Amino acid sequence: MINTEAALLTAVKEPLVITTMQVDDPEPNEVRVAVSHVGLCHSDLHYMDGSVQIDLPVVVGHEVAGVVESVGSAVTGLRPGDRVVGALTPSCGLCFNCEAGWPTQCQRVAEVRLRRRPAYTLPTGEPIARLGDIGAFARHILMREASLVKVPDGIPLHVGCLLSCCVITGVGAVFRGAQVRPGSTVAVIGCGGVGSAIIQGARLAGASAIVAIDLEDARLEAARGFGATHVLNGTVDVAAAIRDLLGDGVDYAFEAVGSARTAATALKVLRPTGTACLVGIAPDGTELTLPASDFFFGEKRLIGSYMGSGHAHQDITQFARLYLTGGLLLDEMVTTVIPFAEINEGFELMRSGEATRVVVDVQA
Ligand SMILES: NC(=O)c1ccc[n+]([C@@H]2O[C@H](COP(=O)([O-])OP(=O)(O)OC[C@H]3O[C@@H](n4cnc5c(N)ncnc54)[C@H](O)[C@@H]3O)[C@@H](O)[C@H]2O)c1
Ligand SMILES: [Zn+2]
Ligand SMILES: [Zn+2]
Repeated sequence: MINTEAALLTAVKEPLVITTMQVDDPEPNEVRVAVSHVGLCHSDLHYMDGSVQIDLPVVVGHEVAGVVESVGSAVTGLRPGDRVVGALTPSCGLCFNCEAGWPTQCQRVAEVRLRRRPAYTLPTGEPIARLGDIGAFARHILMREASLVKVPDGIPLHVGCLLSCCVITGVGAVFRGAQVRPGSTVAVIGCGGVGSAIIQGARLAGASAIVAIDLEDARLEAARGFGATHVLNGTVDVAAAIRDLLGDGVDYAFEAVGSARTAATALKVLRPTGTACLVGIAPDGTELTLPASDFFFGEKRLIGSYMGSGHAHQDITQFARLYLTGGLLLDEMVTTVIPFAEINEGFELMRSGEATRVVVDVQA
C-alpha cells in the first residue's frame, strides 16, 4: 500500500478536494500507474453535478495516461516504465456479447471488475469509490493489465490521454457505431472533446459535408480546424438552416451534448433514411419524445454509441498511429494543460464552453 494524493468528491455540487489517500498493492492482474495527465470529460462533471448517480466519496476522472510503476505477479505484457493510456471498457472476451463483437456490452463485466479489497481508502480505512474502477484524478491508480494500452514514444501523454475517452468515443461512434459512408453528409451537435473527435472521424470517413453545431462561436471556429465544412450556432432553427445549406437533411447526425432536446434535434436534422446517433450522456431518468412518423414514413434510424462501440486496444493503437501520421489532430484539441491543484478551475472552464479539452498535469 502507498499513500498518494487524489481529488476527492465527497458531496455533489461541491468542489473536488485534493486529499491524501491510500492505494492498495496491485492484485496479480493489476498494474500501478503513476498518472501523468488526465483529460477533463463532461461525464466526470455529470457525476460531480449529481445528474448521474455515483457512490460517495469517490474519485472520478477516467481519460487517463501515465507510466507503469509496478506490476502484479500475473502481469506479462507491461513493465515498469511503459507509457500507457486507459482502455476503459473491461470485457471478458468469452460471453455472448464479447464473442459477437460487442465488448462494450460485456455481460460479465461485474466479474471482471471484482476486487478482493478496496483499491482506495482514506487514512481512516474508509473505502473510496472509483469511477468505472478507474478513479484517475489521483497521482497513482490501479488498473487491470487488460485495461491499459501501451502508446508509442512519439505520443506526448498530455495528448495521449485523449485517446482513452473522447477520441475513442467520437471516432468510434463514426466508424463502428453509425458506420458513416464516404460522401455522406454529417451533422455534429456539441463540439467539445467528444464532438471534435466525431468531426474528425467524419472527415476521416470521407464525409462530403460536416455541419458543426454548438452554442459557443469559439468551439465552432475550432470545429472548422477539425474538418467541419459548415458551422451553425445552436440558437438558430438548426434543421431549417441545414436544409438551406445542403438542400436536404443530413445522412448522419451525432448528438454529443447529453440532453433530450439535442437528441430530438439530431433526429429532426436527418433526411429520410438518415441515422441519428446518441453519444452524449443525458441526466438519469431522461426520456425522449419523438415524432413516430419520422420512423415509419421517414425510415429514420436512431442508435446509440458507448465508448466507441468497439475494441479499445485495437482502436487506441490505430488512432495513435493516425495521430503520428497527421490524420488525427490531438494537440489542437487540448486547449490548455493545468496543474492538479487547479482542477476545479478546469471544470469551470469546461462549463463555460471556452475549451475543447482541458487536460490536468497530475504531477505538476
Ligand atoms: N457515449 C459515451 O461513451 C460518452 C463518452 C464520453 C463522453 N460522453 C458524453 O458526451 C457528452 C459530451 O462530452 P464532452 O466531454 O465533449 O463535453 P464538453 O462539455 O466538452 O462539450 C459539450 C459541448 O456542447 C455544447 N453545447 C451545450 N449545449 C448545447 C446545445 N444545446 N446545442 C449545441 N451545443 C451545445 C457546449 O458548448 C460544449 O462545447 C457528455 O454528455 C458526456 O458525458 C459520452
Ligand atoms: Zn469520458
Ligand atoms: Zn464479455
